[in-house]
Amino acid sequence: MSDKVFICRCEDLTEEEIKQAIDEGYTTLEELKCKLRLGMGPCQGRGCLSLARRILCQKTDKTTEEITLPPSRPPVIPVSLGTLASDEK
Ligand code: FES
Repeated sequence: MSDKVFICRCEDLTEEEIKQAIDEGYTTLEELKCKLRLGMGPCQGRGCLSLARRILCQKTDKTTEEITLPPSRPPVIPVSLGTLASDEK
C-alpha cells in the first residue's frame, strides 16, 4: 500500500509534490496552479484548493486570509459543448 497523500485527485498531485514546489519558491496558489496544474481538473479545485491552502499556511507561516484563492473562471460547473451550442434556453 502506498503512503502517498493525494491532494488534487483530478491532477494526481500528492502532498509531497506540493510541498516540494513550495520549497522551490512557489508560494501562492496561483503559482502552484501554473507549475503543477493544481485545481485545473474537472472539479476546478473544489476538491483540492482548500487543502493546498492549508499546506501553504503550514509551510509559509501565513494565515488563510493571507493566501487568496485563484480567481474562478466561468463556467463554474462542467457544461457540455452540446449544451453551449444548443438553441434551447
Ligand atoms: S481535485 Fe484538484 S482539480 Fe479536482
